[in-house]
Amino acid sequence: MATIHQPTPGNLRRLAAILAKGGLVAVPTETVYGLAANALLPKSCRAIFRAKRRPLTDPLIVHVASVTAAAKLAVLTPVARKLMAAFWPGPLTIVLQKRPSVPAVATAGGPTVAIRSPAHPVMRRLLRLSGAPLAAPSANPFGFISPTTAEHVEAGLGKRIDHIVDGGPCRVGVESTIVDVSEPSRPEILRVGGITAEQIAAVLGRPVPVRNQAVVKAGPLRAPGLLTRHYSPNTPLRLHARVTKAMLRRASPDEGFILFAPLAGAPIRTAARVEVLSRRGRPQEAARRLFAMLHKLDRAGLRQLHAELAPEAGAGIAVNDRLRRAAAKRSGH
Ligand code: TXA
Ligand code: MG
Repeated sequence: MATIHQPTPGNLRRLAAILAKGGLVAVPTETVYGLAANALLPKSCRAIFRAKRRPLTDPLIVHVASVTAAAKLAVLTPVARKLMAAFWPGPLTIVLQKRPSVPAVATAGGPTVAIRSPAHPVMRRLLRLSGAPLAAPSANPFGFISPTTAEHVEAGLGKRIDHIVDGGPCRVGVESTIVDVSEPSRPEILRVGGITAEQIAAVLGRPVPVRNQAVVKAGPLRAPGLLTRHYSPNTPLRLHARVTKAMLRRASPDEGFILFAPLAGAPIRTAARVEVLSRRGRPQEAARRLFAMLHKLDRAGLRQLHAELAPEAGAGIAVNDRLRRAAAKRSGH
């Protein structure tokens, strides 16, 4: 069991000191909870990989309090500065050429580093108090559903870590969008998340492609964040463009359905467990609640889960991306 700390000034001071000295602390961010450690200490970074059972080939995101702090870790180009000015603090991770100060283990030996300045006030406080950049992947065992509450972290990693800071449920609910601008003339989105491709395109004044999943699947971890199977519940999950009343009428009590929005018309009788992501059909609300819903239904002892895809636009794109990965067959990762 880990200790779950409330974010009081005294607790945050103590936890920031633990982080500065090289300890691990699970922390809230506006996207999902992260498992943080001092990014400048190779030993601490290795401890993150161990606790998550994460392969050393999958690099970490480094969190910073400011653009100035980012400039110590990476070479900031005009394109990078533009993105930081528009979206930081917030759910955008930017991949840049790294400086020698970043240990190789944090970037899986690669020449680039992924950097983000998170918006959550508790995480910002820990960054300032520790005075260190904090490497933090999502605080879940590798390959499983990302945590959006302190309790999710305890359920997944409680046996392997000592400290969790409770910052309440995450406001965004899906991970940050990752944009690779390490070659400034060819920006590319590696993962869709809290910021949409359209928002990024509007700031850069041109469309920014989302990296093709098929390429990622075949490639030797060139974009390791995009392993096809990820975010996975233990219960099998099947996806549907639409969940119909006929499907619900036929369903049995050991099936669970996650609807994007309520079904139109009169309520129907069903033996299945039915949950709705957004009463008003809002993709951002669906994103915020998605992982908590998967955690909940995964623990409900059901035989089969079903989920309805969101309309493929705006925040719905990130929702569908996570659902597709959650439903993908185990690939050995
Ligand atoms: O919202 C988020 O980004 C959360 C919170 C805690 O900040 N973090 C998160 O970290 O989702 P993680 O490790 O679960 O996912 C980040 C992904 C990794 O899978 C990794 O492959 C990719 O980012 N990544 C990290 N550094 C990279 C790099 N230099 N080039 C390409 N991809 C990179
Ligand atoms: Mg993750």
